[in-house]
Amino acid sequence: MTKKIVLTGDRPTGKLHIGHYIGSLKNRVKMQDSGDYETFVMIADTQALTDNARDPEKIRRSLIEVALDYLAVGLDPKKSTIFVQSQIPALFELTSYYMDLVTVARLERNPTVKNEIRQKQFQDSVPAGFLAYPVSQAADITAFKASVVPVGDDQEPVLEQTREIVRTFNRLYHCDLLVEPEGYFPPKGQGRLPGLDGNEKMSKSLGNAIYLSDDTKTIEKKVMSMYTDPDHVHVQDPGKVEGNTVFTYLDIFSSDQAQVQELKAQYQKGGLGDVKIKRLLNQILQDELAPIRERRQAFAKHPDDVYEMLKEGSQKANQVANETLKQVRDAIGFNYFDK
Ligand code: TRP
Repeated sequence: MTKKIVLTGDRPTGKLHIGHYIGSLKNRVKMQDSGDYETFVMIADTQALTDNARDPEKIRRSLIEVALDYLAVGLDPKKSTIFVQSQIPALFELTSYYMDLVTVARLERNPTVKNEIRQKQFQDSVPAGFLAYPVSQAADITAFKASVVPVGDDQEPVLEQTREIVRTFNRLYHCDLLVEPEGYFPPKGQGRLPGLDGNEKMSKSLGNAIYLSDDTKTIEKKVMSMYTDPDHVHVQDPGKVEGNTVFTYLDIFSSDQAQVQELKAQYQKGGLGDVKIKRLLNQILQDELAPIRERRQAFAKHPDDVYEMLKEGSQKANQVANETLKQVRDAIGFNYFDK
């Protein structure tokens, strides 16, 4: 059986947090370890530059942090190809060809891009590269002929754009060279971890995240300050579990769901204090994150080895992407000097 090809990536604009872990990293490690997939994991520095062109140092710094986060959660360069987007020239040329297959209007209608443009408050100053990042993402995915792309569910419209580009390319150039990708999403209800403050998104800019690199004290402090039910003032008051971030996290992280159901019933009836459920969550998170943090610290002692790993991964990725690029040029007919 030929293995399915998986490609995914992250923009290096900071360290990764437990939202990334739940939303995508865990799935990637599972796929990698199953042996059923050939896995490519890309640090998308070029895509990060589309809205950080004035601060490349932030991307440079974050590159190694993201690589350490990968190794810490169990991505293994012996099983997965971990590489850096900017080091793969073929991706830029593919992006150029695909640019001619999409309209500006279609890019402006992409719900993910539209949302991000609003969040980032670009107003009338949207960088052209940012508007077009779904095109470069189509290059990332198709260069490796990936059919499975594990991402957060906010990325679905970007994948749809890739599928459109693939269909247009194959139709216009009479081939079946490019592969339409499917998204691979976490189980329902587990895809998005809310922020510590109850905001629907955990993010660095909102300051409501627990990082994979956070130490024991920091995790505890963050958990004890989490948003619960603002109307649950006294222990004996009945409390709400919907929208109560501590229970949302317990749903996702606890391996004893019967206990969680019991606690929920008790909380709703009254008589269960916030401190108790926070202590429980703290313990669960500490247990899950301690081995990750320890592995991270061990790898962080040898940054040269981490860069070497990325370099080797990028060499391997270049071979694959260059082969696809050659086929793409052939399909278009830009192969004048081949015999
Ligand atoms: N856009 C993705 C994100 O923000 C990152 C990314 C870049 C990516 N290229 C990719 C994800 C290719 C999957 C496949 O999370």
